[in-house]
Amino acid sequence: MRGAQAPSRASMLPAASPYVKLGIRGYDSASMQVDLNESWRIGDVEIPSRLVLAPMAGVSVQAFRRQGRRYGAGLVCSEMVSCAGLAHQNERTLGYLRIAADEHPLAVQIFGAEPAAMAEAARMVEDAGADIVDINFGCPVRKVTKTGAGAYCLEDPARARAIVDAVANAIVLPVSVKMRRGLANGSRTCLEIGPQLVESGAASLTLHPRSAKQMYTGEADHSLTAELVELVDVPVIASGDIVSRAKAQSVLATTGAEAVMVGRAAQGNPWALRQIMGEKGEPSREEVVAELVLFMRETVRELGEQRATGFLKKFYGWYLGRGRFPRPFKQELVQLATLDEVERRLFAAAPGARFVLERLEDEMPQGDEVLLDLPISIYGGG
Ligand SMILES: Cc1cc2nc3c(=O)[nH]c(=O)nc-3n(C[C@H](O)[C@H](O)[C@H](O)COP(=O)(O)O)c2cc1C
Repeated sequence: MRGAQAPSRASMLPAASPYVKLGIRGYDSASMQVDLNESWRIGDVEIPSRLVLAPMAGVSVQAFRRQGRRYGAGLVCSEMVSCAGLAHQNERTLGYLRIAADEHPLAVQIFGAEPAAMAEAARMVEDAGADIVDINFGCPVRKVTKTGAGAYCLEDPARARAIVDAVANAIVLPVSVKMRRGLANGSRTCLEIGPQLVESGAASLTLHPRSAKQMYTGEADHSLTAELVELVDVPVIASGDIVSRAKAQSVLATTGAEAVMVGRAAQGNPWALRQIMGEKGEPSREEVVAELVLFMRETVRELGEQRATGFLKKFYGWYLGRGRFPRPFKQELVQLATLDEVERRLFAAAPGARFVLERLEDEMPQGDEVLLDLPISIYGGG
C-alpha cells in the first residue's frame, strides 16, 4: 500500500476506557477529552493538530488558509482545482497553485474524471510545492458530476480506483481522498469504496457523511465515519457539522477519526477554530475588523482589486454577523463602490482596529511565496 501508514491506536488507552474498542488516540480518560494539539501524519507529512480547515470553493483563498493556520488548523486545503483547467494552462486555475510559506502543511485538491489527466495535474501540484494532493470524490454539483468527476466517481469504483492509482504513481507526495457517503440518500457506498481507494494508494480518507443528493441539508451521519475508521488502516478525517469544541470532541471520541475538519463554521470566523482548540472568549470588535481588513488586503493581492471586490462581499456578513455589529452595517458595506471606502468605514466603526491590524501585519512572515512562472495577471499585479 503506497504512502499509507498505520496510525498508533489503542495502545495509549487504559484498559477500562470505554474507547478501547475504537482505540481513540490521545483520549485522556481523566479529563474525558481528546487532545486536539496532538500531531499525526498523512504518509510522512506531519500535521501539528487534529483540526483541519475544509476545502471550500469560493472561500478557501490563500488568506483564508493562512488565517486558518494562525488560528490552530494543523492542515489547510485549497478549493477544488480542475485538472482540465490545469492542463489548458487556464490562468485563473493556475492561480490556485500559488502557495505561501506559512501555509504548510497544505493540501491542494484536484478534480476530474480521467486518470491520466489527474496524474498530470497532481504532478503540477507537486511542482507547485504542496505537501499533499487531495482528490475530490465529494462534489455534488451537477456541473461537476455530469463530467464523471466529484461525487459521481463513488458510483464508478473502477474509475475511482484508477484515478487514485494513477495519481499515487505519478508523485512522491501522499495522496488523500475526500468523499461523501454516496450519491443517494442512505447510501453506504463510502464503506465499500473507501478500503479499495486505500488499496489503490490513498494515504488518508476524509468523509463528509451526507449523500450528494442531500447537498448540505439534514445532518452528517458520523456513525458511518466510525464504521469507515474500523475498515481502513489509514487516518480518517471527519467532516460535517463540526461547529464547536463539544462537537469536535464527541465526533473524535465516538468515531476514532484522527482529525476533524471544519468548514462553514470557520467562514468569517477563525475564532471558531480557536474555540475548538480549547481557547475561550469572543473576539472584540477591534479584532474582528482587523482580521477582516487583513483578509481584504491579502485577497486583493491574490485576486486583484476587481475580482476581490465582488468576492469579498459575502465575507462582510460572515465576519460582522453573529451579533458582532448591527445588521444594517453589512448592508452599508456591500453597497460601497471601492474597498478603500469599505476599509475607511470599518475603521470608523472600530478605530482601535488599526493597532490590532498593525500588529497582525508585523507578525505575518514576508516573502518566500512560491511564484510560479506564470503571467503576472494571475497575481493581480501584486
Ligand atoms: C461553499 C462551500 C464550498 C465547498 N467546496 C468544496 C470543495 O471545493 N471541495 C470539497 O471537497 N468540499 C467542498 N465543500 C464541502 C466542505 O469541505 C465540507 O465537507 C462540508 O461543508 C461539511 O463540513 P461543514 O459542516 O464543516 O461545513 C464545500 C462546502 C461549502 C459550504
